[in-house]
Amino acid sequence: MSNNRVLRVKNLNVRYQTQQGPVHAVNDVSFDVFQDEVFGIAGESGCGKSTLIRALMRLLPDSAEVTANEITLSGQNLESMPERRFREEVLWSKMSLVPQSAMNSLNPVYRVGNQIMEAIQAHSSKTNAQARERTAHLFDIVGLQPDLMDNYPHEFSGGMRQRAMIAMSLALDPGLIIMDEPTTGLDVLVQERILRRIREIREEISSSIILITHDIAVIAEMSDRIAVMYGGYFMEQATAIDLFETPSHPYTLGLKNAFPSIRRKGQELISIPGSPPTLIGECKGCPFWERCPFSVEHCSNETPAIEKLAQYHEVRCFRHKDTPQLRELASKKGTWLSLD
Ligand SMILES: Nc1ncnc2c1ncn2[C@@H]1O[C@H](COP(=O)(O)OP(=O)(O)OP(=O)(O)O)[C@@H](O)[C@H]1O
Ligand code: SF4
Ligand SMILES: [Mg+2]
Repeated sequence: MSNNRVLRVKNLNVRYQTQQGPVHAVNDVSFDVFQDEVFGIAGESGCGKSTLIRALMRLLPDSAEVTANEITLSGQNLESMPERRFREEVLWSKMSLVPQSAMNSLNPVYRVGNQIMEAIQAHSSKTNAQARERTAHLFDIVGLQPDLMDNYPHEFSGGMRQRAMIAMSLALDPGLIIMDEPTTGLDVLVQERILRRIREIREEISSSIILITHDIAVIAEMSDRIAVMYGGYFMEQATAIDLFETPSHPYTLGLKNAFPSIRRKGQELISIPGSPPTLIGECKGCPFWERCPFSVEHCSNETPAIEKLAQYHEVRCFRHKDTPQLRELASKKGTWLSLD
C-alpha cells in the first residue's frame, strides 16, 4: 500500500434536521485513503454510507449540517474552500462519484456519449472532436463498444448504463473515484462483469477508489482496506486480510457469521438478531449495544472511543482487549440466539 495519502477525513459528523428531530447520520468518522488503493465501506442499509460520501462531495440537501475537523484532498483543505472553487476545481476533476442507482442517473433525452462529452467540455477546453475521442476511449475502458456512443439511455441495459456512469466518473482523470453501491440492483452475472471491469480499470488508471456496498462479499473481494459502518459510526477499520482473519468488533463478528460466501465451509449460517438503530436523536451509548451479546453495563450510556490494535487496524468497542474470547464465542449460534 502506498504511503501517499489522497484523502484525509477527521471527525466528520452529519445531522439531518427533520420534524422527528435531528437524524445523526454520520458520527465522528475519521479515515484516510491512500494512492492506488480501494477503500471499502460496508454496512447495513441506513447506516450512513451515502450520507458520508455525499457530505464529502457537497451533494447533501440544505437540511443536512456537516461538521469536520479536517477534510483534505491531495493536501488541499476542502472545508474552507468556497463553493464555486470546489465545483470548478474539485468536483469531478479531482473527486468523482458513481452515485447510488447510477444506472438511473443518465438523462433519458440525451445520447449517452453526448452526456459524457458535455461533462468533459464543462471542465476542460477540449474541442468536440477531442471530447468525442476521449469518450470513445472511456467507453472502451469500461467495456462498451464506442459505436454505442450515439445511443440513448433506454437502448442500454442496466449493466451498460452502470458502465456508462463509471465512464463518466473517469472522464476527467480524478485522483479519487467514489462508487456508491455500483453493483446493487444488477443480476449476479452482470455484477460479476462490472466488478471485473472495475478491477481492470484499477490496473489501467492510478486513481484511488472508495467502494461502498452493503455486500460484504463484494467488499472482501475488491478492497485493500475496509471500514465497517454501523449507526453512523465506523466500528472497525482494517486491511481486508486483517478484517477477515482477525475481525475484532462484535458487529463485524456477527456480520462475518451472517454472510455465507466468506464463512468457513460447512459452518452454520448465523444472523444478528434485531435491527439497526433509527439514528433519530443522539445515541448515548454504543450504537450496537441492543444487539450485542457481549455488552457490559456502561455500553448503553457511554460511547466507546476508537482503539488502535495495529497500524491499520482500529476498533470502537469497550471490550477490545477481550477480542480472542469474543471471536470464539461469536462463532457459536447460542451466543446470538440468547439475545432473542
Ligand atoms: N434527506 C434526508 N433527510 C433526513 N434523513 C435522511 C435523509 N437522507 C438520509 N437520511 C437518513 O440518514 C440515515 C443514513 O442514510 P443513508 O442513505 O446515508 O444510508 P446508507 O447507508 O447509504 O443506506 P443504503 O444502504 O440504504 O443506501 C438513515 O437513517 C436515513 O433515513
Ligand atoms: S462497546 Fe459494548 S455494546 Fe458496543 S460492541 Fe463493544 S461490547 Fe458490544
Ligand atoms: Mg446509500
